[in-house]
Formats: sequence, structure tokens, C-alpha cells
Amino acid sequence: MAMMIMPQAVHRRPVPPARPVLDPSTLTPFVDPLPIPLVASPSGLRATPSDAKQKVPYYRLPMRQVESKVHRDLQPTRQWCVGSSAPGPTLETRSGQGMLVEWANELPTSHFLPIDHHIHGAEADKPNVRTVIHLHGSCVPAEGDGYPENWFVPGKSATYYYPNQQDAALLWYHDHTLGINRLNVYAGLLGLCIIRDPVEANLNLPSGKYEVPLVLYDRFFDKDAQLYYPVSPDPEKPWIPELFGNTILANGKILPYLDVEPRKYRFRVLNGSNGRFFHLSTSNGPAFQQIGSDQGLLASPVQLKIASIAPGERADLILDFSDHTGDQVILKNDMLQPVMQFRVGKAKVTDESSVPSTLRAVPKIAESEATRTRTLMLGEIEDLHGDSVGMLLNNAHWNMPVTENPALNSVEIWNLMNVTDDAHPIHLHMVRFQILDRRRFDAFAYQNENNLLRYRGAAVAPEPQEAGWKDTVRADPGMVTRIIIRFEGYVGRYVWHCHILEHEDNEMMRPYDVIAAR
Ligand code: C2O
Ligand code: CU
Ligand code: CU
Repeated sequence: MAMMIMPQAVHRRPVPPARPVLDPSTLTPFVDPLPIPLVASPSGLRATPSDAKQKVPYYRLPMRQVESKVHRDLQPTRQWCVGSSAPGPTLETRSGQGMLVEWANELPTSHFLPIDHHIHGAEADKPNVRTVIHLHGSCVPAEGDGYPENWFVPGKSATYYYPNQQDAALLWYHDHTLGINRLNVYAGLLGLCIIRDPVEANLNLPSGKYEVPLVLYDRFFDKDAQLYYPVSPDPEKPWIPELFGNTILANGKILPYLDVEPRKYRFRVLNGSNGRFFHLSTSNGPAFQQIGSDQGLLASPVQLKIASIAPGERADLILDFSDHTGDQVILKNDMLQPVMQFRVGKAKVTDESSVPSTLRAVPKIAESEATRTRTLMLGEIEDLHGDSVGMLLNNAHWNMPVTENPALNSVEIWNLMNVTDDAHPIHLHMVRFQILDRRRFDAFAYQNENNLLRYRGAAVAPEPQEAGWKDTVRADPGMVTRIIIRFEGYVGRYVWHCHILEHEDNEMMRPYDVIAAR
């Protein structure tokens, strides 16, 4: 079929679910307590790959099929989990404390979600069930990064060494298998990892039971409470360009509640959705103070009425319930959809935690340090009907030769030229980076007049809550988003990609190499 790149085409039609789906508004809200994922416990110490004398905690985390209830009044839902729940157990560690994790595939041998065998890497000759786990936000040697082609089948496992030489941050692990990553994550293969350090500990932020991990994602369920992943109307090509589930889960439950005291809480929020952007607010409740983002603390807290979190991004949010004694505060998405409820207790409490106005220095990387600027287009492939058939980074497919090859410790500026109608959350493995600015440009001229770059507005600085260390950045449609990166860490092959998993699976992902410094 003839294909052309036509990014300025009319906005695509959303794919309607072909099966009757569960309407979450028919469920009694706020009847399940918010589950808190268990903290993973290591089974002893083992030697690191590079030094037989250095012993670090060793964890074995099996991936299994489980049946568990996502709401009191629904029958159990089949899910694929790390451990025994989705999200899986939280890995907790300290900066500089390495860990070994054996990710073990103990899943069944057939998939319960619709694989599209036309997608690169998911051909019919590939085993149905394959997994490989990536720790998102981790500065890890390439052999432990969970490269999308390093998948393994049921009965096999992979043991990765994470040195954790990085600042305190909320990371998360998830499946990264080439061609079916969107399905494996949707099935439930994700969880958190918290790295702590003394800088953060000295701030006296809310901690212990006042620090709450919050994993949010959207799903569709069918009438039998089973996960439903929609397909396109073409049975030959089931891939859909985007998924927006009508049901939001918090730590794996639909519309849960959390009993809180009238005091400050710290919520470590992950958007684990395949494609949904969250815009969180509270009804008649406190505003947020955002104190951190993907790669740790901001320089200072940012007051927000609405906390926006793109797929893959994290937000470290303080909510102070002290003025809401006895209230029932609803956490909502996009102004209307309830996500969960906070039941604020009536008993007076003393809150000894603090949220200092200075959190952590975030030294700016100077543009003058950059030795190279790369201009990278985010594009979409459409068929003659204007239907999306895939996404591309700089017009290149996954299996084409590597084009991004920064030298270790060098600084580069990447100009992400988004000529599509969608915002794409772009993620680079292994590194942290800073956002320089975003600037509107003429995407049509750029594509049709030989990469003519015509700006349509002034450069806009990142929002204050985006001004810290990031590993995922929202590249808005029709904008050039500039990021500055120091490629610190390890030499080796990594990937960069869009974190909308439907895009990532269908070619919006590229390998990149960190090469030895010349
Ligand atoms: Cu969240 Cu390539 O990953
Ligand atoms: Cu990652
Ligand atoms: Cu995308």
C-alpha cells in the first residue's frame, strides 16, 4: 500500500471499543482501600558481575499470571504481574547501593491480548509470550537495561545489576519487549523503584506512612471484568494508534479511598498509562506542591492547582490536608473524572514534617557546553485514508543503522521537531536531561520545503515543575522542544522513544549508542 508522511492531516478518529465495556460510573465508588504495593525483600547478598568481592542485595521477581479484584463488586481480573499484584512490589534502595534483580518469566505460553503480527519484532514466528524488563530512569550498564530485543520466554530469566549511582528519585520498572510492550504493560507488568539519598532525607519531608506511592493508569474492562484491549476494524492489522481507557486505576484498584490524617502527605505519582496524559486536581481540597519530577527533587517547590503528568513521567506531590479535617477530598482527572478519595480524619495531629523552600540545587547545563546539536523529527506515517499506520523518529525505522551516537560525558542538544498532531512524551534511557525551551514552528514548511525552519513564535521556557532533572519530556505538536543532555554513565547501546506505548511498539523507538570519548 502506498504510504506518505502527512502529519498535518485532520485529527484521527478515536478507535471505539468493539466490545461492550464496563462503565466505571456504574460501580459504587470508594469502597476499596488504596492498596500500597509491598516493598520487595531481597533473598540474600550476591556478588556483582564486575567484582566478586562486592556483595549486593539480590532480588528475584517472578512475572506471573494472577487473578485479582480491581473493585469489591467485580469478579477477579486476570492480570500479568511482577510478584502477585499490579503494580508489582516496590524496589527500595539507596543512592550508591547496587542491587541485583533476577526478572523471571513464569507466565503462561499464550498471550491473552491481541498481538499484531505485522508489527516489527512481533512477527508470527516469534513466541507469543516474551518479556524483558527495563528500569525506567536507571543509569545502568547497557547489558542490564532491558534492551527490547533481549526478551526471554516463559521458564527463562535475566539477572540485571543496577549500580544505582544516581540521586534520589522515583524510578519504575516495566516490560519493554519489542512489538508487544504495550500489551505486556497493559496486562500489568510494571512497578516502582525508589532510590533514596541523604540530601533528601535531611529535608524532613513527610515519610513512612505519610509517603504514599501512587501508580495511575487507565484501562478498559469488559462486562466480565476482564482487561480489554481494543483493536482496529481491520482484523489483519489490529494495532491502534492510541488507547484511552474509560477506567482509571490507582495502585491497581478502581476508585479506591485512602484514610488520611489532617496533615501533610507526600505522594510519589507515576503515570503508567499506555497513552493517557493525567491532569490531576482535587475537589474542594488542597492545592498541590510539586517537589520533584522524573529524576528527583526540584530546586524549590511549585504550587499547582493542576498536576499534569504525561505517560512515563513522575510527579512528587505534597498534599496538605490540615485545613480539611473531616472532609472527603476527591482526586480527579481532567476536571471531572474521579480517581480516588481521601477521607480526612477528625483527630488533631501534630505534623513534624516540613517542605523547605529550597530542596536541592539543580545546576543548569550551559548551552555552550554542547558539542553537538541534533535535529530529530517526530513524524507519523499515514495510509491513503489518513489512518495512522505507525510513527517514526527522524524518518528512521527501528532496524535501520544507529544514527544517534553521543560520546560518553559529552553534552548534546536535541531538537525534537514534532510535525504530528499529538504530544509525544519522549524518553531517553540511561541519562537525565534538562529542558531548554519549546518553540512553535511551521511544521508544513519544515517537511515540504526541505527542512525549512520557520519559527512561529518565541521560545517558551519549561514550566517551573519541568525545570528539574527529567528523563521524559512532552514534545508538543507543532513545537520544537529542545533538551540538553550530558551522556554520563556507561558506553553501550540504549534506546530513545516515545512513551505512548502504541507509538513505541510501532516504530517510534530508536537504538542509540553511547560511544567511548575520543
Ligand atoms: Cu519507560 Cu524505554 O521506557
Ligand atoms: Cu527508560
Ligand atoms: Cu508518540
